Amino acid sequence: MKNMIAFAVALGITAMIAMFTTLAQAEYGDVVINNYSDESEMRPVVFPHWFHRIRFQCKVCHADLGFKFEAGGNDINMMKIIDGEYCGACHNGEVAWSVENCNLCHSAKPGTPTQVHESTIQKLVSPAEEMAKKEEQ
Ligand code: HEC
Ligand code: HEC
Ligand code: HEC
Repeated sequence: MKNMIAFAVALGITAMIAMFTTLAQAEYGDVVINNYSDESEMRPVVFPHWFHRIRFQCKVCHADLGFKFEAGGNDINMMKIIDGEYCGACHNGEVAWSVENCNLCHSAKPGTPTQVHESTIQKLVSPAEEMAKKEEQ
């Protein structure tokens, strides 16, 4: 219960920060997960698959943590992550940085559907960042 209240507070503050911060860029093989993000007015999640694959064995995630081999095929939500399931098994401030860093995961352009990203062209970068680049020129 305490955790849920803390999360609700963090949600309000960090959702605002997330909107204004620079975002990670999507690369080949990244998985975009957007079962719930858009409808919750969060940016869709970019999961950098290759980044994780070179650090962990497949079985860590696909057997031990129960991730199915399908983009968008897992019923992942924030409460489960905070409870230490899915991404939260590692993104807990111990194995990797914690869930407070909303924008590091919720980094796709709003409206990007669930997919395995096939291209090296940086299509998923947020419009906010593109605008910032234009202003620099
Ligand atoms: C750190 C965790 C993690 C590791 C390690 C990992 N995966 Fe994944 N994998 C995921 C997640 C998360 C998804 C997307 C699931 C979703 O969208 O719900 C995924 C999706 C997939 C998919 C379906 C999407 C696609 O690219 O076609 C395949 C196939 C896959 N993984 C294979 C592998 C293989 C093979 C390895 C080892 C070489 C591996 N994974 C290692 C977490 C991991
Ligand atoms: C380690 C990665 C990660 C971090 C960090 C993270 N999220 Fe998420 N979040 C996810 C994933 C994966 C989903 C499922 C996405 C989907 O299906 O659309 C999700 C879903 C959500 C949803 C959809 C509805 C729900 O309740 O699940 C909301 C809202 C959300 N996150 C808010 C946040 C906020 C606010 C923060 C920061 C306090 C945050 N997230 C941090 C990975 C993360
Ligand atoms: C098996 C452990 C594990 C799981 C599960 C896991 N991560 Fe990670 N993740 C890591 C580690 C370790 C790092 C590197 C942290 C660092 O550099 O401090 C990382 C880094 C990242 C990064 C930053 C990549 C970069 O380029 O710096 C993102 C984004 C990310 N994870 C998202 C997710 C999302 C979304 C999920 C769930 C769908 C997830 N992770 C599940 C361990 C994991």
